[in-house]
Amino acid sequence: MQLKIAILPGDYIGPEVMAAALPILEAVLAKGGHSLEYSFHDIGGAGIDNHGKALPDSTLAACQAADAILFGSVGGPKWEKLPPAAQPERASLLPLRKHFKLFANVRPGFLPPALMDASPIRPDRIPNGIDMVCIRELTGGLYFGQPKQTSALDDGDVEAVDTMVYRKSEILRIADVAIATARARGKRLLSVDKANVLECSVLWRKTVSEHVAATAPDIALSHMYVDNAAMQLVRDPAAFDVIFTENMFGDILSDEMAVVCGSLGMLSSASLGDITNRHGQPFGLYEPAGGSAPDIAGQNKANPCAQILSAALMLRHSFGLNAEADTIDAAVKKTIADGIRTGDIAFGGASVGTKEMGAAVLERLA
Ligand code: IPM
Ligand code: MG
Repeated sequence: MQLKIAILPGDYIGPEVMAAALPILEAVLAKGGHSLEYSFHDIGGAGIDNHGKALPDSTLAACQAADAILFGSVGGPKWEKLPPAAQPERASLLPLRKHFKLFANVRPGFLPPALMDASPIRPDRIPNGIDMVCIRELTGGLYFGQPKQTSALDDGDVEAVDTMVYRKSEILRIADVAIATARARGKRLLSVDKANVLECSVLWRKTVSEHVAATAPDIALSHMYVDNAAMQLVRDPAAFDVIFTENMFGDILSDEMAVVCGSLGMLSSASLGDITNRHGQPFGLYEPAGGSAPDIAGQNKANPCAQILSAALMLRHSFGLNAEADTIDAAVKKTIADGIRTGDIAFGGASVGTKEMGAAVLERLA
């Protein structure tokens, strides 16, 4: 297979973790006899600095021509003086998601027993680790709803508005992704909303209930309010399997899931939509979802695992290369099981640098 990938390393730790992940991707593909063609493009702060735009036209064109996007991370203090709507995150990642209609965000949360000490949860509450996945709606809700603005009022006050909007059709298409995910796992689906307060959540709950009843009687569906879900996720994270929610709630709960699973530096993600690539597989954007970590950038400290695992998700979802993806996942798990940790996930564990962690994973590719 011939893979054509647009690589968008971005800012702060983005390029560092990307550099650690690429040799692993190359090695796995070379071994399988696949050819990898990739090119690097500026995004986020790097786009602003080098092209005057967080999402440069040349970057968008390169993404358009690729089978998949491997994304690093964007944003940071260097650009915080820019107007809010011009910030790297809002002006690059969000338009990319919207442009390619990447409405389904898949975030696996996995705590292997070997990483138990890295989780803030007491080990006796998670004797078998954690294995869950968060399906987050990614192109609707508060992130994109209009109006979205700040205005000076006649009475001298200032008012800001964000708008939460969901269409039934948007809920249905993400529900299908959640159902398929649950079907491939424990056939349990937890839908999270705030239906005791929000109209969007009332529609969400009704739509999901009816859709599961009509199309997926094999799936055990349950519902939870988001505040309760946030609490249950620290109280008993092992009880979760597939958690499924709207954009803003998913942003918050997936960070919580990641840290309960040991580290934001382990949080990989796939963002998918309806567009297919040259191989007839879903076009997607793959990114570590833990952020650009300006505080540890440039120090060879960041955990590259989320970037490496995102590359594996890319092989799985956009190329159907499941064996290759499994090989990468297994090498990361083995590296962790061998006690190798970078600074940011070691709540008390041994420590190596970003490059060394990448090299350790590379060595363990079976
Ligand atoms: C994420 C991030 C983004 C989001 C930011 C960088 C815009 O936090 O992918 O979770 O809020 O979606
Ligand atoms: Mg987030």
